[in-house]
Amino acid sequence: MSARIAPSILTADFGRLSDEIAMLVAGGADMIHLDVMDGRFVPNITFGEKMIATVRGLTSLPLDVHMMVEEPERYFDSFAGAGASGLTIHVEAAPHLQRQLARIRELGCAAGAAVNPGTSLASVREVIPDLDLLLIMTVNPGFGGQDFIPSSPDKVARARQLLSDARSRAALEVDGGIGRDNIAPVWRAGADTFVAGNSIFGAADPQAEIGALRNICSVTV
Ligand code: DX5
Ligand code: ZN
Repeated sequence: MSARIAPSILTADFGRLSDEIAMLVAGGADMIHLDVMDGRFVPNITFGEKMIATVRGLTSLPLDVHMMVEEPERYFDSFAGAGASGLTIHVEAAPHLQRQLARIRELGCAAGAAVNPGTSLASVREVIPDLDLLLIMTVNPGFGGQDFIPSSPDKVARARQLLSDARSRAALEVDGGIGRDNIAPVWRAGADTFVAGNSIFGAADPQAEIGALRNICSVTV
């Protein structure tokens, strides 16, 4: 299996959004990662339903929507209707996690749960059968361009163990500060899906960077 690269458009130039999406598609992106922030769960505010619909109109790639919002269930219907392929909610904002994940699946989307760096994996243990994706945050969410937290590969390895013990086929995604310097250890630890913002959009050749990141994994055993 090869690594899946999910570029985050948080760092894209929104004034040239259609060119940016076309570049990601041409570079072989496996999906597009959209960071929805509400200014409450995280300090920053980004975008919502309209951006999902706009990107949906620009590509047929899966849209991986990362919801850094309180009361995420308020937006499930509209985001699914706008064309999201997967909805990932934070366990820190989801007191009824099992019901919320089940609802995401009911809407025809892949159900994802995200854990912040300070949140224990125990918070997802009971809902593994309800998960299509587990997202391990490798920065504290809120902004692009932050530094990867060095203890992350160890947590990813424990998450991989948890999924395989439960015979889960859920994707194991990492997000935050991922780039050439650290993608190999997280891949080796068992992650299969890699969000990257700054390392792609800040590269000399952003289109080529997608393949470069994937290649680092394919030569790492
Ligand atoms: C951080 C977001 C990330 C971010 C990744 O809160 O969830 O998806 O856009 O950007 P980089 O790769 O620059 O850390
Ligand atoms: Zn994200």
